[in-house]
Amino acid sequence: MSVARTPLVAGNWKMHKTVTEAEEFIQGLLPRVSTSEGVEVAICPAFTALQAMVDSTRGSRVQVFAQTMHQAGHGAFTGEVSAAMLTELDVHGVILGHSERRELFGETDKALALKVPAALEAGLVPILCVGETDEERERGDTERKLRHQIQEGLSKVQAAEIPRVVIAYEPIWAIGTGKVASVEQAQEAAGFIRALVADRSAEQAEHVRVLYGGSVKAQNARELLALPDVDGALVGGASLEAESFAAIVAAAG
Ligand code: 13P
Repeated sequence: MSVARTPLVAGNWKMHKTVTEAEEFIQGLLPRVSTSEGVEVAICPAFTALQAMVDSTRGSRVQVFAQTMHQAGHGAFTGEVSAAMLTELDVHGVILGHSERRELFGETDKALALKVPAALEAGLVPILCVGETDEERERGDTERKLRHQIQEGLSKVQAAEIPRVVIAYEPIWAIGTGKVASVEQAQEAAGFIRALVADRSAEQAEHVRVLYGGSVKAQNARELLALPDVDGALVGGASLEAESFAAIVAAAG
């Protein structure tokens, strides 16, 4: 039995946009996505622009996600932000385990095993990012890497909570490179991820949304978003301009 999953198109701004720039963007985006049906839309600004974007999107269809958070409720973790700090702002969710956080800031699967349930417990929607490097794919290690990341990331999540988790498949070799995964590669990995979730619960796996990320543009979005196991996109560069981001949203609707 196939389950209808509402696609999610999320723009990960990374370290881009001051509050002023974010305001300018959102005024351009809101009218462009106001009529898109059957798709959820999210922006993921830097911490500094979260409050402004929550305020500016209130009553609209655009959700606001943070880009990372700490697993602890509070403590001596200079520079970090807790789930409660995000929910107080009315933030909808949080990206966890983006490959840039893993590679450049030492985020581990062990920490992510705590972050995913911490986000859920606080009422945030986690977008758990997974994906292989170029070398891992060349070596035939893609499935092993994905299995490890998914098993760890979901290890402390209750089965009933699994449908609230969004998983983003982001092959690292496709991020910011203009080298998009082929539709075959994207479907194969997304299907494999769903099968891994099914190892935890076959029923819940049908409800989990699996996004594709890595050089998604208005020109390639439609074919990627049409894949049976791809339920949306996590967009970097093309989410920085309202026009190109809105075109990707339109491709999902
Ligand atoms: P690009 O769309 O710029 O390749 O970035 C993808 C990404 O990392 C989204 O999280």
